[in-house]
Amino acid sequence: IFSQVVPAPADPILGLTDAFKADPRTDKVNLGVGIYKDEAGQTPVLKSVKQAEAILLAEENTKNYLGIEGVTLYNKVVQELLFGATHTVTNQERAVTAQAPGGTGALRVAAEFVVRNTPSRVIWVSNPTWANHQNIFETAGLTTKEYGYYDAANHDIDFDAMLRSLEAANQGDLVLLHGCCHNPTGIDLTLEQWQKVGELCAAKGLVPLFDFAYQGFGRGIEEDAEGLRLVASMVPELIIANSFSKNFGLYNERIGAVTLVAATAEEAKVAFSQVKRTIRANYSNPPAHGALIVSTILSRPELKAAWEQELAEMRERIAEMRTLFVESLAAAGVTQDFSFISRQMGMFSFSGLNKAQVEALRAEHGVYIVGSGRISVAGMTKTNMPVICSAIAAVL
Ligand code: LMR
Repeated sequence: IFSQVVPAPADPILGLTDAFKADPRTDKVNLGVGIYKDEAGQTPVLKSVKQAEAILLAEENTKNYLGIEGVTLYNKVVQELLFGATHTVTNQERAVTAQAPGGTGALRVAAEFVVRNTPSRVIWVSNPTWANHQNIFETAGLTTKEYGYYDAANHDIDFDAMLRSLEAANQGDLVLLHGCCHNPTGIDLTLEQWQKVGELCAAKGLVPLFDFAYQGFGRGIEEDAEGLRLVASMVPELIIANSFSKNFGLYNERIGAVTLVAATAEEAKVAFSQVKRTIRANYSNPPAHGALIVSTILSRPELKAAWEQELAEMRERIAEMRTLFVESLAAAGVTQDFSFISRQMGMFSFSGLNKAQVEALRAEHGVYIVGSGRISVAGMTKTNMPVICSAIAAVL
């Protein structure tokens, strides 16, 4: 049977890492995948994570299976991080959360739950969006449609286009929304725009599906959740897929969660039984380590404060790199206006470089960025900045 199999194309993001590893050049720079690097170019384990792991090593006394939904305390602290200490949906017990293997796992469980249990078959994603979104949703059996989002000429959001596209959506359609730090553009909605999106979803019966992978990387932990919390207070039903890969640096632990908000507590309970069934059919029950780290940190005030501090340092370093990037491009002789980069949020910058320029960056200069022109600012350092900027100046 395997002789029939045709080769898959390389993944647009993770495939770049493979190509990067195979590149013998010593001055190569990987700004493809979204991984935070410190000033020394390392992706270290956070100190708060190490402390939590020391506690777990001393106290853990079983490797017994978790329940299908994962660590109970984890699911509780996830809701507090998403919705804040108090919110209508949690007060009314309309939110249910299951641990999931990363944001991708959460999105896949959510999509499969929808396909198996509801009449909805369409999900609207922003144009552009994360390169894996369509792949996940279509594999689960949803049809993807695109809504306008990016105004390429002004490097800004085209909010009218977004609303216009979503006017064509039908009741029950899902709308994928990036909670903060839009991937790949780095351009987020304002609170007024979130209000309008919430109104539109409520009026048309659209179901928001938040991809929330960068909480704390934009403006702050609470600030980055403002849009999500507002929309959650306006619509009867929504889904959230969140990830702790970036904000806890737990990339290879694959730790995230899927949260479902239903119209009533009763409906939430019923829906949750089907979410669990979906998980059971995929991987039975989740691995424990990442969830135990996160719940240990978030349930202990001193560890939580230490983590918040480390997250703030990552956020501030990226912001510093944005400013330095804009300045260094100018210093390298680039005359185009790249000041929009310092206004974008999160790990990524949508550079506006075209496919040929992206290819020349890789082939001629060993600088790897995603084909869409997305650059991981989180991978820039004061050391690699001159290499990156002179390469960009050359391909421009
Ligand atoms: C990214 O967009 O680079 C990250 O979310 C990593 C991934 O899995 O693609």
